[in-house]
Amino acid sequence: MKAAIFEEVGKPLVISDITLGDMGPHEVRVRTAAVGLCHSDLHYIDGTVAQPMPVVLGHEVAGVVEAVGAHVTRMKPGDHVVGCLSVFCGTCEHCIGGNLVNCSNQSVRYLPGQAQRITREGVHVNQGFNLGAFAEEMLVHENALVKVRDDMPLDRAALIGCGVLTGTGSVIRTAKVPPGSTVAVIGCGGVGLSAVMGARLAGALRIIAIDILDSKLELAREFGATDVINGRDGDSVQKVIEMTRGGVNYAFECIGAKRTAEQAFEMLATGGTVTLMGVMPPEMMIEFSGRDLFYRQKKILGCFMGSNQFPTDIPRLCDFYMDGRLPLDQMISKRIRLDQINEGFEDLKAGNVARSVVTFDI
Ligand SMILES: NC(=O)c1ccc[n+]([C@@H]2O[C@H](COP(=O)([O-])OP(=O)(O)OC[C@H]3O[C@@H](n4cnc5c(N)ncnc54)[C@H](O)[C@@H]3O)[C@@H](O)[C@H]2O)c1
Ligand SMILES: [Zn+2]
Ligand SMILES: [Zn+2]
Repeated sequence: MKAAIFEEVGKPLVISDITLGDMGPHEVRVRTAAVGLCHSDLHYIDGTVAQPMPVVLGHEVAGVVEAVGAHVTRMKPGDHVVGCLSVFCGTCEHCIGGNLVNCSNQSVRYLPGQAQRITREGVHVNQGFNLGAFAEEMLVHENALVKVRDDMPLDRAALIGCGVLTGTGSVIRTAKVPPGSTVAVIGCGGVGLSAVMGARLAGALRIIAIDILDSKLELAREFGATDVINGRDGDSVQKVIEMTRGGVNYAFECIGAKRTAEQAFEMLATGGTVTLMGVMPPEMMIEFSGRDLFYRQKKILGCFMGSNQFPTDIPRLCDFYMDGRLPLDQMISKRIRLDQINEGFEDLKAGNVARSVVTFDI
């Protein structure tokens, strides 16, 4: 069975044959139908964030269940499923409290390097994100999957597993944006465009999209942005403050850069909230005005995977798509084969795509 393996920072992924281990009682074997190329995969490939290697990356995924372990009752062979990297145990303090993304039960959510499910010629290969979706098949814990409706196209379902869940969740679950709010989204890739969609769903009155590529800003308008700013055309903080007469109620940083995180905070109105979603290198520090925190009551939120409750959120997002309220067709810029994955990442790096999706013949 073929997989794309990340072996060395800065080097192309290598297509190799891998073998999956025996299925445990709570595990599910899935034939991969489609997997999106997310910037979080790219952060590992370009070395921004460390990861034990060799590893099968890939986490924005949908597929079809092939076989289920003896104790799995929520899924059966033939079911269509979406994967999510925030696998949860369901019994810890965080899970019981409804904060599934904070689950840290290491018997379910293995630390990087711990999952023993993949080998290549008898030698251990790491399972990135507890999924390892850049492969024709995956062996995962049942709580890393959710069943979705059969009429949901699997390539668009895949996008929901990370970018769409994170972007819409950041608005709806993390920041809890109320109707009528003003919103700014900095960075309009798969995650930022999804934050724009989330703001639209939440009933935001004004949605200002900011990117350095006009092509992304055009897409942002299609996804619901009411105003756009090219960050290369001068000071976007000043522009947002002028456009809104004082700043936005909510800002979302969807890149992972120090300066854009600071800009997101600076463009807030008094009482505003910034939500940070971009993945940053571990040593990166961000600077905010302490005075703005107390005197203007600005708030800073971190957001992991849209603070999701994915077993309910993902099927609902599929319903929103099927109902015509999530324009995911425009999110897929390219469909590629597994052996074109390195070109796919070059496209992501260059900003040529909203999302490329690897599709498999199944
Ligand atoms: N918090 C989470 O749980 C979570 C989940 C998924 C992805 N992420 C992270 O979110 C970030 C975005 O992911 P993505 O897949 O959408 O990436 P992407 O590469 O598709 O999009 C990034 C966008 O930012 C724009 N950009 C870059 N520099 C800019 C600047 N200085 N000003 C304005 N725009 C700029 C690019 O043109 C691009 O459109 C990444 O850091 C990714 O790792 C976080
Ligand atoms: Zn992702
Ligand atoms: Zn838990």
